[in-house]
Amino acid sequence: MNKEQIQAYIEENKDRFLDELIELLRVPSVSADPAFAGDVQRCAEVVKVSLEKAGVDHAEICQTAGHPIVYAEKIISPDAPTVLVYGHYDVQPADPVELWDSAPFEPVIKDGNIYARGSADDKGQFYMHVKAFEFMIENDELPCNVKFMIEGEEEVGSENLGIFVKDNTEKLNADVIIISDTSIIDNETPTITVGLRGLSYVEVKVTGPNKDLHSGVYGGAVDNPINVLCDMISSLKDENGHITVDGFYDKVEEVSLEDRAKMAEAPFNLESFQNGLGIKAARSESGYSPMEGASIRPTLDVNGIWGGYIGEGAKTVLPSEAFAKISMRLVPGQDHEEITRLFEDHFKKIAPGTVMVEVTGLHGGEPLVIPTNFKGYQAASQAMEDTFGKTPIPVRGGGSIPIVALFEEVLGLKSILMGFGLDSDDIHSPNEHYGVFNYLRGIETIPLFYKYLAE
Ligand code: BES
Ligand code: MN
Ligand code: MN
Repeated sequence: MNKEQIQAYIEENKDRFLDELIELLRVPSVSADPAFAGDVQRCAEVVKVSLEKAGVDHAEICQTAGHPIVYAEKIISPDAPTVLVYGHYDVQPADPVELWDSAPFEPVIKDGNIYARGSADDKGQFYMHVKAFEFMIENDELPCNVKFMIEGEEEVGSENLGIFVKDNTEKLNADVIIISDTSIIDNETPTITVGLRGLSYVEVKVTGPNKDLHSGVYGGAVDNPINVLCDMISSLKDENGHITVDGFYDKVEEVSLEDRAKMAEAPFNLESFQNGLGIKAARSESGYSPMEGASIRPTLDVNGIWGGYIGEGAKTVLPSEAFAKISMRLVPGQDHEEITRLFEDHFKKIAPGTVMVEVTGLHGGEPLVIPTNFKGYQAASQAMEDTFGKTPIPVRGGGSIPIVALFEEVLGLKSILMGFGLDSDDIHSPNEHYGVFNYLRGIETIPLFYKYLAE
């Protein structure tokens, strides 16, 4: 098998490859919203059929307490290495829909990009694996056993997949896991992600008086829960951008200056970063660059805040309740359950005596780093080098894929995060898109990964 042979197959089939992806993107498989549960189910069906058509021996839909998991396999020999492909067919909600230039579930190809919710995260990326597999089957070039596990709950925390993995360790037995759900630095700079941040996600509620009050009759005598919540939130970080939650940094593994110097060699242009986002200036924890702030350091961000009157015009009200959703991205050394506990203790401690505070943990996941000195990584690196003409740079990513740490813990398997997206793909945002170049480059690279792994 060589690059030219794969390129010829792609050239011959690329219109169909795009049409099939577009069909998949038409299914609004939004996992967070129960209104779409039927579509999520239907999407699992579409994925299963696509795997059958591509040539697996066996494919099934595994129901869970939530959305189903699609499992499929092709076993060629007990002596060949086994690759487990993980991906997710669920997508984030499309809201706010009015900010999209075209409908989120009516894909269009424009200026070399496929626009649709899920195009980059993760349908366009896991489907590259289905088409790469099809190439290997059609050309009698499959050198490894393959297992596909494509889930429908990644965007809501993968809780049921965790149970499925624990219950099916035998079935999921493999040598390595490959995942395309991350990005490359740019289309000339191949990248392999070697770290993911963990996540602790909480919702907080601050309660003051037992009902909404007239803000003139009572204002000045009764503490306002929204004001209190804002004070509390603003105290969670100091002027250096350090998080003040007691014990938050205690177990953070500091990255050595040597490793940081190496990471800083990855291309990054501050000006185009800022311009692309329309911000006047980036901001990171003091002592760390923006790139470090978004990868090797933990964070605390308010994701949403509400309470009181937010309708048209003015209403003079002193509200009874205030709410916020807060996420903390975690780095190696930190444990998400412990951090959630520390947050809860701290948040209750700093609450003034005038209000009541509740903290509810929503979901979480552990951080991880992946070594570069094992066969799977080297196979991925070699494959990308063949197709990009450059050795990929190992980079720690800022996002989270909570199940990856569990793969290691429960299955004892390392994952290779060989994604082909770009940070500018607008995943989770309006106008999400995936480059046609990136989609086809992925299909071209993946069979070479199998080849080098089997060598
Ligand atoms: N594919 C992303 C994660 C990602 C994106 C990692 C880009 C690295 C680079 C994934 O689908 C995602 O969005 N994960 C969620 C976690 C989840 C529990 C909702 C996240 O990171 O917010
Ligand atoms: Mn994803
Ligand atoms: Mn996502």
